[in-house]
Order: sequence, then structure tokens, then C-alpha cells
Amino acid sequence: MERPIVLILLMFVPQSWASQTWYNVVDFGAKGDGKTDSTSAVSKAWRQACASTKPSTIYIPHGRFFLRNLHFSGPCNNRAITVAMAGILVAPPDFSAATWLLFEGVDGVSIRGGTLDAQGGSLWACKKSGRNCPRGATTLGITKSKNIEISGLTSINSQMFHIVINGCQNVKLQGAKVTAPGNSPNTDGIHVQLSKGVTILNSVISTGDDCVSIGPGTANLWIQNIHCGPGHGISIGSLGKGLEEAGVQNVTVRSVKFDNTQNGVRIKTWGRPSKGFVRNVFFGHVIMNNVQNPIIIDQNYCPNNQNCPGQVSGVKISDVTYQDIGGTSATEVAVKFDCSKASPCRKIQLKNVRLSYKYQRARALCSNAAGTAAGRIEPSSCLY
Ligand SMILES: *[C@@H]1O[C@H](CO)[C@@H](O)[C@H](O)[C@H]1NC(C)=O
Repeated sequence: MERPIVLILLMFVPQSWASQTWYNVVDFGAKGDGKTDSTSAVSKAWRQACASTKPSTIYIPHGRFFLRNLHFSGPCNNRAITVAMAGILVAPPDFSAATWLLFEGVDGVSIRGGTLDAQGGSLWACKKSGRNCPRGATTLGITKSKNIEISGLTSINSQMFHIVINGCQNVKLQGAKVTAPGNSPNTDGIHVQLSKGVTILNSVISTGDDCVSIGPGTANLWIQNIHCGPGHGISIGSLGKGLEEAGVQNVTVRSVKFDNTQNGVRIKTWGRPSKGFVRNVFFGHVIMNNVQNPIIIDQNYCPNNQNCPGQVSGVKISDVTYQDIGGTSATEVAVKFDCSKASPCRKIQLKNVRLSYKYQRARALCSNAAGTAAGRIEPSSCLY
């Protein structure tokens, strides 16, 4: 009599579970005591999971696991590796690698839960003191990989960028919590470049630099339901530093709240010759709270006025829509389109944009910016 019941139950167990192999890092010698170096234990677990032909889960239980920089490299023998984290990974304050935790050349990896604490504080202090300091490391890098899912990850106090997605296809990042102090240098939240089909959802990002920064060669990027602040806002760029540069296209940013950030939605290019471009961008359903530059295109970026012959950007910006954007600017100029003389911005569209300057009238400034406006627009449009 029991047999049929067991069989019926088995029918409901997903195939991927039934054949799942578990690798608990503790079984490989990791210790969640905050002191023991668990790098080689986690590395061994990764190598076995990657070598397995079955779906695999690497499990990091509760505790603080001290981990030096680690390279999770592929290709692997299966396309379903989950790194399930209940615990906290802690970086040594003194390592020097470009990236602390780097996934490279993998296909079909999910990272679930967990906290990454890169302990950037001492490096920021060094940088602020003006001493000669290491550059610092990205906390989590995903490079030359595809079909990646990251959910419920917390990243705190990165030395440099928190999460970098580089040269990837089909990456979904959701429910991330990224935190560093507003005055910590170069602690960008999420940086995307040379990647196609990246989605960033339902995340809270407070840092000392860009909330999300979008580099050359980004296409089909979707960003939705994000809270930014403090920090420098969502930025396409800096672009156009080099002459030969891949463009940015099809970017959607919607349902974002910016609190006390330096910028809201920004496009920024160097005042240098370039074949780069930005096209087909949608910024919509955005709330600005006390943002210094809520809407800005700056095509004259040239720190220290060095190496920008003629100060003219070659990057062509077109088809950028700003729709249903409201709130307050911390400065009088709430909308600024400072476009290139050589390649003016084209097809900028404003639809229902209402921004005030501390409850007074704000201003809009345009140079070399063409487009249209519809609905209520405050400050009134300066596009030609
Ligand atoms: C634009 O990107 C979205 C994902 O963000 C994608 O669904 C859509 O197909 C892309 N559109 C084009 C024309 O490639």
C-alpha cells in the first residue's frame, strides 16, 4: 500500500532537485568563525561542483567566513550551479586583486542570498589621506558569462565597485542591497558594460558613487524598481574616452526613486573624438527628492581640462525619452542638456516632467539639444 504514495510524491519532486548534488563548504574545511581562512575550502567546493555533470549547489551556512580573493572559473560540466549563502563572506582588508570574488566564463550560475563584506574602510581612509594606496578591488565580478541569476544578495563596504557585469549575456540581478557610506570613494553599486540582456530589479543601493553605471557596449538593459541614495545616481557613462568604442542602446530605467543624490538620470561623455553612441533610452516613472542634477546630459566631461582636444564629444546621443518624472531639485537647474557641438543630441522627448527647485521654479538649460515636449513640462522645455 505504501509504494504508490511514495511514487506519487516522487512525481512532485522537481527533476533538478532529485539529481542535485550538495557541497557544503564546511565539509571542505571552511569555518564560519570570522578568522579561519576558508578560501581553499570554498575553492575546492567550486571545483567539484564545476566538474560535476549534475546540477550542483554550493552551500555556505550561517557564520562569518573569511575569504581571500577567489576565481570561480568555467567552463563547467553542468549548467546549473547554485551558490546558496546563508552566511557572510568577509574579505581581508589588505588584499590586492582587481576583483575579490570573480566568476568568469560560466554558464548557468545562480547566487542566492548571502552578504559580502569587503571591509573597504581602511582603504578609503588611505585614499582620503592622500597617501599612496592600492587601487582597491571590485567585490563581485561576473565576466564573460551567461545565464546568471543573482537574488537577495547584500554587498557592504566594497573597496571599489560593488558588482561589475562585464562581457555577459542574460544576467538577472534582483533584490540586491548595496551599502557603503555616501563619502566612500568609487564605491559604485552596479556597473554594466559590454553586456547584453542584463536586468536589475527591486534593489536598494546607497553608495559613495554611481548607483548604477552603464559603460560602453551595453544593450537591452532593463532597470526597474530601484531606490538610489546617497550616491551619484544612474549614469550612462562616462562614454567616449576612446575613439573606437561600442555604443549603448536599448536601455530602460523605470520606477526609480532618487534620494539626496548628486544626479538623477545622467548621460555623460568625454569631450573627445569618439565613434560611440547612445540611442533608444527610456527613463520613466522616476521620483527625485532633493537631487542636485535630476536630469542631465553632460557631453563636456574632461577632468582637469586635460587631453580633450577642442573639448567636443563625438558620441552621438539620440532617441532618449524622459516620461513621468517629478520631484525636487537641490539646485536651480533641474534639467540640463549640454550636448556636443559636433554631434548635437537628437530626438530627446519630454513627457510629463515636473521638477521644482525647493518648491520654487527651476530652470532648464540646453545647448545643441533637439527634441519634443508633451504634457506638463516644468521647467519649460528648452529643446529646439
Ligand atoms: C530591448 O531590451 C529589452 C530588454 O531590456 C528586450 O526585451 C527587447 O526585445 C529589446 N528590444 C530590441 C529592439 O532589441
